[in-house]
Amino acid sequence: MSSEITRQETTAAIEVVPNVIAGEAVTTGAREQVLNPYTGEVLYEVPQAGEAELRRALDAAVAAFADVRRWPAHRRASCLREASRLLRERAEDVALTIAREAGKPLKAARVEVGRSAENLAFAADAAADLAGEGLPLDASVYGEGRVGFTVRAPRGVIAAISPFNFPLNLALHKVGPALAGGNTVILKPAPQTPKTAVILARLLVEAGFPPGAISVLHGGADLGNALVTAPDVAMVSFTGSPQVGQAIARACGLKPVVLELGNNSANLVDEHADVDAAARLLAVAGFAYAGQVCIHPQRLIIHERVYEQFRATFLEAVGTLKVGDPLDDTTDVGPLINDAGAARLNAWVDEAVSFGGTLLAGGHAEGRLMPPTVLEDVPEHAQLVCNEAFGPVVVLQRVDSWTDAIDTANRSRFGLQTGVFSTYLPHVLQAVRDIEAGGVIVNDTSAFRVDQMPYGGVKDSGVGREGARAALEELTYVRSVVLR
Ligand code: SIN
Repeated sequence: MSSEITRQETTAAIEVVPNVIAGEAVTTGAREQVLNPYTGEVLYEVPQAGEAELRRALDAAVAAFADVRRWPAHRRASCLREASRLLRERAEDVALTIAREAGKPLKAARVEVGRSAENLAFAADAAADLAGEGLPLDASVYGEGRVGFTVRAPRGVIAAISPFNFPLNLALHKVGPALAGGNTVILKPAPQTPKTAVILARLLVEAGFPPGAISVLHGGADLGNALVTAPDVAMVSFTGSPQVGQAIARACGLKPVVLELGNNSANLVDEHADVDAAARLLAVAGFAYAGQVCIHPQRLIIHERVYEQFRATFLEAVGTLKVGDPLDDTTDVGPLINDAGAARLNAWVDEAVSFGGTLLAGGHAEGRLMPPTVLEDVPEHAQLVCNEAFGPVVVLQRVDSWTDAIDTANRSRFGLQTGVFSTYLPHVLQAVRDIEAGGVIVNDTSAFRVDQMPYGGVKDSGVGREGARAALEELTYVRSVVLR
C-alpha cells in the first residue's frame, strides 16, 4: 500500500518525455521509467509507442518524403547548417541532458555536443556536394549516340535506431545524412536516453525541416522489430549490439541496412614506439565514458621488450583518473549505464581471474561505479578478451614480435578500429596492410574519431559506413540516366 502511494506521488512530479510524431508530443501508451545511472533517481516517464503511434509516424514520414525528396540540395544544406548553429547556441543545456541521462561525464558530453554541431555541418556539406558521375556510354559499340550520367536518389523513410552511449552524435550520424540525402526519418533512441533524441528532433524542425521528416518513437524490441520490418521503411540504420544487429539483418531480408556493431578494440604498441606517450593516451581512452564506447581500447597488445615500461606508465596514468559524479567537471570515469552492465563486467573479471589472469588495478563495480580495471595474463578464450567489454576494463597482452601483435589483433570476430603505436615505417605499413578493421589509427588510440571520416567495421563489427559522405552513399542509391 505505502509503496503504491509513493509511486503515485513520484509519478506526479516527474517529467514525461513524449514520442514526437510529426512535431506533436504524443503521450499515449504505457510508460516506462528512466533512471539517472549515477544517482538512481527517476528522471522521466516515457510513453512507449505501439502500433498506432508507429502507423502515425510512418504516414507522416511517407507524406513528408513526397515533399523533401524534391527539395534542392541548397535547401537541405541550409536547414542542416541552421540546426548546427542552434545546437551550438544550446550546447550547455544539451550537454547537461546527456550527462544526466547517459551518465556521461560533463566534459565528455560537451565534446559530444561540439562534435554533433560539426557533424551537422559535415552533413550540410555532403548534401551540397552530392552528385552522380558521367557515364561514357559510347565505350560500348551499342552505346553510341547517347549521353549517360548517374544521379543519387533518396531511398525514402529511414528507420534509425541509436544507442545510449552517444545519444546525440550517433543518432545524428543517421539522421543528418538521411536528411541531407532527401530522406525522412523515424528515430528510435535507446530507452535509456530518450530526451536527447526529442531535443534533436525538435531542433531539426525548428531549423526548417518539415515536422513529418523526423519523428521519435520510444520503445523496446517489439517496436524495433515492427519499425524495421514495416513495408514503408526503405532502409535501416542501426548502432548497437552484434546480436541485435544480426537479428535486424535477418528480419530485413533485401532491405538495405547499415549496422554499426561491437568491437574489442586492439591497440598495438611496438618496441619502436614512444611507449610512455602511448601508455598515457591509452590510459585516458581506455576508460573515457567508463569504456562504454565501441572503439574503446580493450586489448592492449604490447611488445615484450617494452612491456614492463608500458605497464608501469600505464598504471600510473590510470591511477590519476577520477571516478564519480558525471556532473562534476573534473570526473573522468562515470557510472555504467545500468546494473546489468555492472553485474556482467564483475562476472567477466571473476572469470578472467579464475582462468589465471592477474588483476593490476580496479576490480569490481560497486553499484554502477566501476573503477578503471586492468588485467594481464588473461587467456584469449576469456570473455574479457574475445567479447566486447563495453566497460572500464582493459587487458594487457604480451607478444614477442610485430607480426605476432598483428596476428593477435586479428584473432577476433570483430574489426571496427585498431590503434597502432610505432615509429618504424615498415611496421606501420605492415599494420595498415594486414590489420582486419574498418580503421587503423597510427600513433593514436583506436578511440580516435572525427565525424567526417568513414567509420564502420568488418567481420562481426557490422556492414556499411557512417561519416556524412560515406553515409550518404548508403542512404541514397545510384540511378543511371541515359539520354538518347
Ligand atoms: C561508438 O561508440 O561507436 C562511437 C564512438 C565515437 O563516435 O567516438
